[in-house]
Amino acid sequence: MSGNSRLVISNQQGIHEKLDTLVERYKNTENKRPVSDHTKAAFDEVLTWLGNWQGDIVLDSCCGVGESTANLARQFPDCKVIGLDKSAFRVGKHEHYQSGEDNYAVFRADVNDFWRLAQTQSWSIKKHFLLYPNPYPKSSQIQKRWYASAAMVDLMALCPHIEVRSNWLLYLMEFSQAVRHYGLQGNMRELRSAAPMTPFERKYQASGQPCWQLIITSDEIE
Ligand SMILES: C[S@@+](CC[C@H](N)C(=O)[O-])C[C@H]1O[C@@H](n2cnc3c(N)ncnc32)[C@H](O)[C@@H]1O
Repeated sequence: MSGNSRLVISNQQGIHEKLDTLVERYKNTENKRPVSDHTKAAFDEVLTWLGNWQGDIVLDSCCGVGESTANLARQFPDCKVIGLDKSAFRVGKHEHYQSGEDNYAVFRADVNDFWRLAQTQSWSIKKHFLLYPNPYPKSSQIQKRWYASAAMVDLMALCPHIEVRSNWLLYLMEFSQAVRHYGLQGNMRELRSAAPMTPFERKYQASGQPCWQLIITSDEIE
């Protein structure tokens, strides 16, 4: 990837004025969106792949080509690692990023639906990664950002240990504020790792852009 990635440009200067209202609204509303057939089929594939696995699971949502999923499989050798992305094109390119580990797989699925289906299982999810989700930086797009969307309640129900990365600091600041509504807290820092974990991280680093990491935990809020 070339090093000419543009900085996120937004007409929003600080935390969105509607953030808290939206997070509360979705927290208290049942998500009635029907589950798509293709994600239900992908979910069944995941269940088959897991077989009678009783150990820990790591989720890599919006994994793109799944380079991070392969990296996470190395990092968590005792877990099964599931990569999910809705783009058939990106998932189809995973072969190129494949690693030798057999404790992971990448599936084409819409996480809006997958996160709801996952709640029907008693999975032990050790950690959930959300690396460089689409930022939707226009102020009017706030409800497309995960934390201000109907999917937030499902994301929060799966596992409190979430790592989010972004090249837009405001995205992580808002994420951090949103999780407080669920009794969680987030710690943010600039990533200084020389080894990029995903193609987008590589692209941003090559363009000299800072990348940020938000680690969410269930530690008590002081
Ligand atoms: C900016 S890319 C980041 C990809 C990868 N994590 C990386 O860092 O290289 C965002 C990804 O989110 C995926 N995505 C967006 N909405 C999604 C959804 N509802 N379900 C699954 N994947 C989604 C897109 O297809 C895209 O691959």
